[in-house]
Amino acid sequence: MKKRIKAEPFKIKMVEPIQLIPRPQREAALERAGYNLFALKSEEVYIDLLTDSGTGAMSDQQWAGLMLGDEAYAGSRNFYHLQETVQDIFNYQYSIPTHQGRGAEQVLFPLLIESPGQYVLSNMHFDTTKAHVEIAGGRAENFVIEESLNTTAYHPFKGNFDLEKMEAFIRKEGRENIAMIIITITCNSAGGQPVSMKNMREVSQLAQKYGIRVLLDAARYAENAYFIKTREAGYQDKSIKEIIRETFSYAEAFTMSAKKDAIVNMGGLIGIKDNQELYTQARSRVVPLEGFPTYGGLSGRDIEAMARGLKEGIEFAYLDYRIEQVKYLGDQLREAAVPIQYPTGGHAVFVDAKKLLPQIPFEQFPAQSLGNALYLEAGVRGVEIGSFLLGRDPDTGQQLESPLELLRLTIPRRVYTNNHLDVVAAGLIALKDQASSLKGLVFTYEPAILRHFTARLKPVG
Ligand code: F0G
Repeated sequence: MKKRIKAEPFKIKMVEPIQLIPRPQREAALERAGYNLFALKSEEVYIDLLTDSGTGAMSDQQWAGLMLGDEAYAGSRNFYHLQETVQDIFNYQYSIPTHQGRGAEQVLFPLLIESPGQYVLSNMHFDTTKAHVEIAGGRAENFVIEESLNTTAYHPFKGNFDLEKMEAFIRKEGRENIAMIIITITCNSAGGQPVSMKNMREVSQLAQKYGIRVLLDAARYAENAYFIKTREAGYQDKSIKEIIRETFSYAEAFTMSAKKDAIVNMGGLIGIKDNQELYTQARSRVVPLEGFPTYGGLSGRDIEAMARGLKEGIEFAYLDYRIEQVKYLGDQLREAAVPIQYPTGGHAVFVDAKKLLPQIPFEQFPAQSLGNALYLEAGVRGVEIGSFLLGRDPDTGQQLESPLELLRLTIPRRVYTNNHLDVVAAGLIALKDQASSLKGLVFTYEPAILRHFTARLKPVG
């Protein structure tokens, strides 16, 4: 066998011990948690793949940057470093830090949704993004291509927009009823799937034709750029930064959760290309919601870590390691015939629980059942992305059926080695043979809103 010549582009300077608690303790913990993995204590988890958000390992440069925090209420030097970095990477003039991605959304969306009932169009809204659209009076509609719902079919850009469908919708509803288009890169809810440059360019052309503004939800923008470089014709010889600059040229502003590709534990960002009026409005709104515009809910030291993280997160060697690691887990599962969203995306492997547990109906949450079983088997925590997350129809109270029932195994950045991922793969592969004996779940407590986080369940029968 040919030896790998590429390894992690870092070495490990500090470690955090973890342990696998014995199975009887895991069983007791899960029962106490009401069969909801969000209610576990992190110490009860061996390998935590709940999210890649805020869970990355900062570098020595980022930790060193913390010591250079300037905690001035106004005009911190770290803010100016952030602003310069944003100008350099994205070619956007204005930056406003926020406490995390949803902080950016709550500041910006009410400025862009001009009248109640206006639609916001996206390939796929992330759940807090949809919530902020709705809080601002808007209605969220998704236009991701059909191929993204077929987990076994290869498509290089499963996060793409179905442009025909979106244009038909704009014509039907009327341009005045559309507030904006949000391009989510990568498309988290479809499996961390990328959007091609061609598709983004066409979205921008369509938006121009109708005079609609375009925003980027840029949490995983660097991972998206990596996929463009490695998969899209004409981009092989461009640098990641060139690809990012072209990407951001197609929008007028972005909201970003910096907890992903900017590799900080907490932080968010609004970027505005050159619209001074929008910037002035956002700057006024950020004060009561997040804080003075040069700190926006963050300490100076956190802003410094963010500025440094933005630069590290676009290095090719880092991205290559990152995406390859996600693929490493996905390949093992595929070889063992565990059904996953294929190809693997940027930040997670999404296991197709509908295919693996066909005996469990959607209203008994197959992916949640699989997640619980994986915790019992291997101490690994994933997260359900399916009907349990989706919830009920607000008008009829009926449980909605999600088109996909997925267990997301989200890989934190620079945190776990491939040995950890071998344990994850072995756990799931072992479960494959027991899949037909797994049971669905029913509620013992169901809160009216955001039930995913606090609901309690029990196995049926
Ligand atoms: N947009 C996308 C595409 C996201 O994935 C997230 C968060 C947000 C916005 C909101 O950012 O958490 O900083 O307020 N995604 C996390 C996840 C929570 O687990 O996928 P935030």
